[in-house]
Amino acid sequence: MKKIIVTEKISDKGVALLKAQKDLQVDVEMNLSREELLKRIPEYDAIIVRSVTKINEEFYKHATNLKVVGRAGNGVDNIQMEGATKRGIIVVNTPESNIVSAAEHTIGLMLSSCRNTVKAHKMIESRVWNRDGLKGMELMGKTLGIIGLGRIGGLVTTRMQAFGMKVIAYDPYIADARFKKYNVKKCETLDELLKESDVITIHTPKTEETMNMITYKDWQKCKKGVRVVNCARGGLYNEQDLAKAIREGLVASAGVDVLVDEPKPISPLIDLPQCVLTPHLGADTQEAQDNVGIAIAEEVIAALRGEMVPNA
Ligand code: MLT
Repeated sequence: MKKIIVTEKISDKGVALLKAQKDLQVDVEMNLSREELLKRIPEYDAIIVRSVTKINEEFYKHATNLKVVGRAGNGVDNIQMEGATKRGIIVVNTPESNIVSAAEHTIGLMLSSCRNTVKAHKMIESRVWNRDGLKGMELMGKTLGIIGLGRIGGLVTTRMQAFGMKVIAYDPYIADARFKKYNVKKCETLDELLKESDVITIHTPKTEETMNMITYKDWQKCKKGVRVVNCARGGLYNEQDLAKAIREGLVASAGVDVLVDEPKPISPLIDLPQCVLTPHLGADTQEAQDNVGIAIAEEVIAALRGEMVPNA
Protein backbone atom coordinates (compact mmCIF):
# COMPACT_ATOMS: atom_id res chain seq x y z
CA MET A 1 0.00 0.00 0.00
CA LYS A 2 1.48 3.37 -1.08
CA LYS A 3 1.08 6.31 1.31
CA ILE A 4 0.30 9.93 0.41
CA ILE A 5 0.32 12.90 2.75
CA VAL A 6 -1.57 16.08 1.88
CA THR A 7 -0.20 19.01 3.89
CA GLU A 8 -2.24 21.93 2.52
CA LYS A 9 -5.87 22.48 1.63
CA ILE A 10 -6.91 20.88 -1.64
CA SER A 11 -10.53 20.40 -2.70
CA ASP A 12 -12.68 17.67 -1.17
CA LYS A 13 -13.10 16.27 -4.68
CA GLY A 14 -9.36 15.81 -4.99
CA VAL A 15 -9.10 14.15 -1.58
CA ALA A 16 -12.09 11.91 -2.39
CA LEU A 17 -10.44 10.80 -5.63
CA LEU A 18 -7.26 9.90 -3.76
CA LYS A 19 -9.17 8.06 -1.06
CA ALA A 20 -11.15 6.08 -3.65
CA GLN A 21 -7.95 4.30 -4.75
CA LYS A 22 -7.75 0.90 -3.08
CA ASP A 23 -3.96 0.73 -3.35
CA LEU A 24 -3.38 4.07 -1.59
CA GLN A 25 -3.52 5.30 1.97
CA VAL A 26 -4.16 9.04 2.20
CA ASP A 27 -3.48 11.20 5.25
CA VAL A 28 -4.63 14.82 5.21
CA GLU A 29 -2.49 16.61 7.80
CA MET A 30 -2.79 20.33 7.48
CA ASN A 31 -1.63 21.39 10.91
CA LEU A 32 1.71 19.65 11.23
CA SER A 33 4.64 21.75 12.39
CA ARG A 34 7.77 21.58 10.26
CA GLU A 35 9.41 19.30 12.85
CA GLU A 36 6.42 16.96 12.86
CA LEU A 37 6.35 16.85 9.07
CA LEU A 38 10.06 16.01 8.87
CA LYS A 39 9.58 13.28 11.46
CA ARG A 40 6.61 11.75 9.64
CA ILE A 41 7.77 12.13 6.01
CA PRO A 42 9.89 8.93 5.84
CA GLU A 43 6.60 6.95 5.94
CA TYR A 44 5.32 8.48 2.71
CA ASP A 45 5.66 7.72 -0.99
CA ALA A 46 4.08 11.01 -2.08
CA ILE A 47 3.29 14.44 -0.74
CA ILE A 48 0.78 17.00 -2.04
CA VAL A 49 1.42 20.66 -1.19
CA ARG A 50 0.40 24.15 -2.30
CA SER A 51 2.65 27.16 -1.77
CA VAL A 52 3.42 27.07 1.95
CA THR A 53 5.22 23.75 2.49
CA LYS A 54 8.88 24.14 1.58
CA ILE A 55 10.25 21.14 -0.26
CA ASN A 56 13.96 21.79 0.08
CA GLU A 57 17.19 19.94 0.77
CA GLU A 58 16.40 19.63 4.48
CA PHE A 59 13.04 18.07 3.56
CA TYR A 60 14.53 15.64 1.01
CA LYS A 61 17.07 14.41 3.55
CA HIS A 62 14.20 13.22 5.72
CA ALA A 63 11.98 12.03 2.85
CA THR A 64 13.82 8.78 2.35
CA ASN A 65 10.90 6.92 0.78
CA LEU A 66 9.51 9.77 -1.34
CA LYS A 67 8.76 9.14 -5.00
CA VAL A 68 6.37 11.94 -5.97
CA VAL A 69 5.82 15.58 -5.04
CA GLY A 70 2.48 16.99 -6.18
CA ARG A 71 2.25 20.79 -6.32
CA ALA A 72 -1.42 21.71 -6.35
CA GLY A 73 -1.07 24.84 -8.45
CA ASN A 74 0.90 26.57 -11.12
CA GLY A 75 4.34 27.59 -9.84
CA VAL A 76 6.91 25.24 -8.34
CA ASP A 77 8.99 27.87 -6.56
CA ASN A 78 8.56 26.26 -3.14
CA ILE A 79 10.00 23.03 -4.53
CA GLN A 80 13.70 22.60 -4.95
CA MET A 81 13.76 20.87 -8.33
CA GLU A 82 17.45 19.89 -8.36
CA GLY A 83 17.06 17.98 -5.11
CA ALA A 84 14.14 16.04 -6.58
CA THR A 85 15.91 15.33 -9.87
CA LYS A 86 19.06 13.98 -8.25
CA ARG A 87 16.98 11.62 -6.11
CA GLY A 88 14.71 10.48 -8.95
CA ILE A 89 11.66 12.08 -7.31
CA ILE A 90 8.94 13.08 -9.79
CA VAL A 91 7.48 16.57 -9.37
CA VAL A 92 4.05 17.19 -10.89
CA ASN A 93 1.93 20.35 -10.93
CA THR A 94 -1.28 21.69 -12.47
CA PRO A 95 -0.27 24.57 -14.73
CA GLU A 96 -3.62 25.03 -16.46
CA SER A 97 -6.11 24.43 -13.68
CA ASN A 98 -6.33 27.77 -11.89
CA ILE A 99 -5.22 30.29 -14.49
CA VAL A 100 -8.67 31.77 -15.14
CA SER A 101 -9.13 32.44 -11.44
CA ALA A 102 -5.67 34.01 -11.22
CA ALA A 103 -6.40 36.23 -14.22
CA GLU A 104 -9.78 37.27 -12.81
CA HIS A 105 -8.27 38.09 -9.42
CA THR A 106 -5.59 40.19 -11.15
CA ILE A 107 -8.34 42.19 -12.81
CA GLY A 108 -10.29 42.45 -9.56
CA LEU A 109 -7.23 43.91 -7.85
CA MET A 110 -6.63 46.25 -10.78
CA LEU A 111 -10.17 47.58 -10.61
CA SER A 112 -10.34 47.84 -6.85
CA SER A 113 -6.97 49.56 -6.51
CA CYS A 114 -7.69 51.97 -9.38
CA ARG A 115 -11.08 52.88 -7.82
CA ASN A 116 -10.14 53.01 -4.09
CA THR A 117 -12.77 50.39 -3.37
CA VAL A 118 -11.30 49.17 -0.10
CA LYS A 119 -10.60 52.63 1.28
CA ALA A 120 -14.19 53.60 0.39
CA HIS A 121 -15.58 50.48 2.01
CA LYS A 122 -13.67 51.19 5.24
CA MET A 123 -15.13 54.70 5.27
CA ILE A 124 -18.67 53.44 4.84
CA GLU A 125 -18.04 50.88 7.57
CA SER A 126 -17.16 53.72 9.92
CA ARG A 127 -20.44 55.40 8.86
CA VAL A 128 -18.78 58.17 6.86
CA TRP A 129 -20.23 59.15 3.46
CA ASN A 130 -17.54 61.22 1.76
CA ARG A 131 -16.26 61.01 -1.79
CA ASP A 132 -13.28 63.31 -1.21
CA GLY A 133 -9.97 61.64 -1.92
CA LEU A 134 -11.58 58.66 -3.60
CA LYS A 135 -11.43 59.72 -7.23
CA GLY A 136 -10.20 56.82 -9.33
CA MET A 137 -8.80 56.19 -12.77
CA GLU A 138 -10.72 54.84 -15.75
CA LEU A 139 -9.03 51.96 -17.58
CA MET A 140 -10.44 52.52 -21.06
CA GLY A 141 -7.87 54.02 -23.40
CA LYS A 142 -5.01 53.42 -20.95
CA THR A 143 -1.96 51.28 -21.65
CA LEU A 144 -1.59 48.05 -19.71
CA GLY A 145 1.96 46.70 -19.48
CA ILE A 146 2.13 42.97 -18.88
CA ILE A 147 5.41 41.49 -17.71
CA GLY A 148 5.21 37.82 -18.70
CA LEU A 149 2.90 36.89 -21.55
CA GLY A 150 2.38 33.27 -20.52
CA ARG A 151 -0.90 31.55 -19.75
CA ILE A 152 -2.17 34.03 -17.15
CA GLY A 153 -0.72 37.05 -18.93
CA GLY A 154 -2.58 35.94 -22.08
CA LEU A 155 -5.90 35.65 -20.25
CA VAL A 156 -5.45 39.07 -18.65
CA THR A 157 -4.66 40.50 -22.09
CA THR A 158 -7.88 39.46 -23.82
CA ARG A 159 -10.01 40.47 -20.87
CA MET A 160 -8.44 43.93 -20.55
CA GLN A 161 -8.60 44.51 -24.29
CA ALA A 162 -12.36 44.10 -23.83
CA PHE A 163 -12.11 47.01 -21.36
CA GLY A 164 -10.62 49.11 -24.16
CA MET A 165 -7.06 49.04 -22.85
CA LYS A 166 -4.07 48.98 -25.18
CA VAL A 167 -1.93 46.05 -24.09
CA ILE A 168 1.86 45.95 -24.40
CA ALA A 169 4.06 43.20 -22.99
CA TYR A 170 7.64 42.33 -22.10
CA ASP A 171 8.61 38.69 -22.21
CA PRO A 172 11.99 37.74 -23.66
CA TYR A 173 11.11 34.03 -23.52
CA ILE A 174 8.00 34.16 -25.70
CA ALA A 175 7.95 33.83 -29.50
CA ASP A 176 6.86 36.83 -31.56
CA ALA A 177 3.91 34.79 -32.84
CA ARG A 178 2.30 34.93 -29.39
CA PHE A 179 2.47 38.73 -29.30
CA LYS A 180 0.85 38.77 -32.74
CA LYS A 181 -1.81 36.25 -31.72
CA TYR A 182 -2.82 38.45 -28.79
CA ASN A 183 -2.49 41.70 -30.73
CA VAL A 184 -0.05 42.95 -28.12
CA LYS A 185 2.81 45.32 -28.79
CA LYS A 186 6.10 43.61 -27.97
CA CYS A 187 8.44 45.66 -25.77
CA GLU A 188 12.06 44.84 -26.60
CA THR A 189 13.18 46.00 -23.17
CA LEU A 190 11.64 46.20 -19.72
CA ASP A 191 12.37 49.94 -19.71
CA GLU A 192 10.18 50.38 -22.80
CA LEU A 193 7.26 48.78 -20.94
CA LEU A 194 7.91 50.80 -17.79
CA LYS A 195 7.95 54.08 -19.71
CA GLU A 196 4.76 53.48 -21.71
CA SER A 197 2.41 51.83 -19.20
CA ASP A 198 -0.37 53.43 -17.17
CA VAL A 199 -0.97 50.14 -15.35
CA ILE A 200 1.57 47.34 -14.89
CA THR A 201 0.85 43.74 -13.97
CA ILE A 202 3.40 40.95 -13.58
CA HIS A 203 2.88 37.28 -14.47
CA THR A 204 6.26 35.61 -14.26
CA PRO A 205 7.33 32.62 -12.20
CA LYS A 206 9.48 33.33 -9.16
CA THR A 207 13.11 32.63 -10.05
CA GLU A 208 16.47 34.14 -9.19
CA GLU A 209 16.11 36.26 -12.32
CA THR A 210 12.64 37.58 -11.53
CA MET A 211 12.93 38.17 -7.74
CA ASN A 212 13.27 41.91 -7.14
CA MET A 213 12.91 42.39 -10.88
CA ILE A 214 11.37 45.82 -10.30
CA THR A 215 13.15 48.09 -7.86
CA TYR A 216 12.96 51.77 -6.92
CA LYS A 217 14.99 52.93 -9.94
CA ASP A 218 12.45 51.21 -12.19
CA TRP A 219 9.51 53.02 -10.61
CA GLN A 220 11.41 56.25 -11.32
CA LYS A 221 11.32 55.39 -15.04
CA CYS A 222 7.54 54.95 -15.09
CA LYS A 223 4.84 57.53 -15.74
CA LYS A 224 4.26 59.35 -12.45
CA GLY A 225 1.25 57.79 -10.77
CA VAL A 226 1.49 54.43 -12.51
CA ARG A 227 -0.87 51.76 -11.08
CA VAL A 228 0.46 48.29 -10.39
CA VAL A 229 -0.76 44.78 -9.65
CA ASN A 230 1.05 41.69 -8.40
CA CYS A 231 -0.98 38.51 -8.36
CA ALA A 232 2.02 36.27 -9.11
CA ARG A 233 4.66 35.99 -6.36
CA GLY A 234 5.73 38.19 -3.47
CA GLY A 235 8.94 40.12 -4.10
CA LEU A 236 8.87 40.24 -7.91
CA TYR A 237 8.40 43.94 -7.26
CA ASN A 238 10.81 44.59 -4.40
CA GLU A 239 8.41 45.27 -1.52
CA GLN A 240 10.42 47.95 0.29
CA ASP A 241 11.03 49.82 -2.95
CA LEU A 242 7.40 49.63 -4.03
CA ALA A 243 6.31 50.99 -0.65
CA LYS A 244 8.80 53.87 -0.98
CA ALA A 245 7.58 54.59 -4.53
CA ILE A 246 3.98 54.67 -3.30
CA ARG A 247 4.81 56.94 -0.37
CA GLU A 248 6.55 59.34 -2.78
CA GLY A 249 3.66 59.31 -5.26
CA LEU A 250 5.62 57.63 -8.06
CA VAL A 251 3.13 54.77 -7.90
CA ALA A 252 -0.49 55.76 -7.31
CA SER A 253 -1.89 52.41 -6.23
CA ALA A 254 -1.07 48.73 -5.91
CA GLY A 255 -3.20 45.61 -5.92
CA VAL A 256 -1.19 42.90 -4.22
CA ASP A 257 -2.13 39.25 -3.66
CA VAL A 258 1.29 37.92 -2.70
CA LEU A 259 3.90 38.87 -0.12
CA VAL A 260 7.54 37.97 0.43
CA ASP A 261 7.02 36.58 3.92
CA GLU A 262 3.70 34.82 3.41
CA PRO A 263 1.98 33.16 5.10
CA LYS A 264 3.04 35.83 7.61
CA PRO A 265 1.19 39.11 6.99
CA ILE A 266 4.35 41.18 7.15
CA SER A 267 5.04 43.88 4.55
CA PRO A 268 5.57 47.64 4.38
CA LEU A 269 2.68 47.67 1.88
CA ILE A 270 0.09 46.72 4.49
CA ASP A 271 -0.13 50.12 6.12
CA LEU A 272 -0.43 52.08 2.90
CA PRO A 273 -3.99 53.18 2.05
CA GLN A 274 -3.11 53.11 -1.67
CA CYS A 275 -2.74 49.31 -1.50
CA VAL A 276 -5.39 46.64 -1.78
CA LEU A 277 -4.07 43.39 -0.35
CA THR A 278 -5.38 39.84 -0.36
CA PRO A 279 -3.80 36.71 1.17
CA HIS A 280 -2.72 34.80 -1.97
CA LEU A 281 -6.27 34.29 -3.18
CA GLY A 282 -5.52 34.18 -6.91
CA ALA A 283 -6.34 30.49 -7.19
CA ASP A 284 -8.92 30.45 -4.43
CA THR A 285 -12.21 29.90 -6.19
CA GLN A 286 -14.42 26.86 -6.00
CA GLU A 287 -13.85 26.18 -9.68
CA ALA A 288 -10.07 26.50 -9.62
CA GLN A 289 -9.73 24.44 -6.46
CA ASP A 290 -11.92 21.67 -7.86
CA ASN A 291 -9.87 21.65 -11.07
CA VAL A 292 -6.57 21.72 -9.21
CA GLY A 293 -7.59 19.13 -6.61
CA ILE A 294 -8.75 16.62 -9.21
CA ALA A 295 -5.83 17.27 -11.56
CA ILE A 296 -3.18 16.87 -8.86
CA ALA A 297 -4.85 13.72 -7.48
CA GLU A 298 -4.91 12.17 -10.97
CA GLU A 299 -1.29 13.07 -11.61
CA VAL A 300 0.05 11.82 -8.30
CA ILE A 301 -1.89 8.55 -8.66
CA ALA A 302 -0.52 8.08 -12.19
CA ALA A 303 3.04 8.92 -11.14
CA LEU A 304 2.93 6.48 -8.22
CA ARG A 305 1.72 3.77 -10.59
CA GLY A 306 4.50 4.50 -13.06
CA GLU A 307 2.07 5.74 -15.71
CA MET A 308 2.57 8.69 -18.07
CA VAL A 309 2.06 12.03 -16.31
CA PRO A 310 1.38 15.14 -18.42
CA ASN A 311 2.86 17.76 -16.07
CA ALA A 312 5.91 15.95 -14.71
C1 MLT B 1 -0.24 28.62 -7.91
O1 MLT B 1 0.98 28.57 -8.02
O2 MLT B 1 -0.97 28.17 -8.80
C2 MLT B 1 -0.86 29.16 -6.66
O3 MLT B 1 0.10 29.82 -5.93
C3 MLT B 1 -1.51 28.03 -5.93
C4 MLT B 1 -2.00 28.35 -4.54
O4 MLT B 1 -2.88 29.15 -4.37
O5 MLT B 1 -1.53 27.75 -3.59
